Amino acid sequence: MTLSTGQQHQNNSLMAISDLEFTRLRDLIYQRFGINLTEQKRSLLVGRLQKLMRRLNLPSFSAYFEYLDQDKTEAGLSELVDLISTNHTYFNREKDHFDYFSETALPAVIERLKKQHRKDLRIWCAGCSSGEEPYTLLMLMMEYLGADYSSWDAGILATDISDRALTVARRGTYAMDRVMQLPEQLRRKYFIPAGQGEMAVCDKVKKEATFRRFNLMNTTFPFKKPFQMIFCRNVMIYFDQPTREALVSRYHQHTEPGGYLFIGHSETLGRTQTRYNYLKPALYQKGEL
Ligand SMILES: C[S@@+](CC[C@H](N)C(=O)[O-])C[C@H]1O[C@@H](n2cnc3c(N)ncnc32)[C@H](O)[C@@H]1O
Repeated sequence: MTLSTGQQHQNNSLMAISDLEFTRLRDLIYQRFGINLTEQKRSLLVGRLQKLMRRLNLPSFSAYFEYLDQDKTEAGLSELVDLISTNHTYFNREKDHFDYFSETALPAVIERLKKQHRKDLRIWCAGCSSGEEPYTLLMLMMEYLGADYSSWDAGILATDISDRALTVARRGTYAMDRVMQLPEQLRRKYFIPAGQGEMAVCDKVKKEATFRRFNLMNTTFPFKKPFQMIFCRNVMIYFDQPTREALVSRYHQHTEPGGYLFIGHSETLGRTQTRYNYLKPALYQKGEL
């Protein structure tokens, strides 16, 4: 349907954002997501929001704020963060980390747990997007533990704020060319053809992944026990320094002594900003007690 000039004008003026509304939006985005929206991003975000508001049939920004206020499920916030951040990810992204996981971190953690007569392996993938990262970690855990995997209380917790990304993750089906980024041995063992040029993660792996919507800005984490490994890669790039520091401090509280934090290769934590010990770029470890 094409709009007449008059209708277009009416639509555009209804959708225009005032300085006050933009400030309100910016404050909301900072408080809820820790993301500092610069003035340069204003027109990009407003354009995307206008599309969303048209879809939701909301005639103005005040109607949109009202919609967010009444949104008890946080689904509206999830839509909003999707407009600002990217869910971009792929299998085997920053391969070094997967090598370190299989060759060093996982063997060390398993060894320590065995010494403590424990078999609870607790790994959290925070900001898991569409699932490529947690599924790969699970495959590597299964490779390492082999037949012994089933005797462990293992699995992976994978969280993200984006419902859109989590829907893809739970489905666990990916285009063939994306899966090709994984080593052949993993592809053969853990995927089945799903038709239309797609491959599905096999059920054995899928059932070990727990996907949940979780906003990392929550100041308390609802986990009773600490993790041996936390992956939060390419997520904190959107956050400003104080937000990042506060989040890393929460991660530290929720890491077992000797446990690891993996962050994205383009991210760094200043040495004075964290109680984790620096191991190598994008990799940190909590000291032993
Ligand atoms: C670029 S993806 C990173 C995916 C994967 N970790 C990787 O390294 O490829 C960033 C993810 O962080 C999520 N995210 C952004 N802000 C978040 C927040 N406040 N709480 C939880 N997840 C968030 C986004 O929804 C997105 O899926």
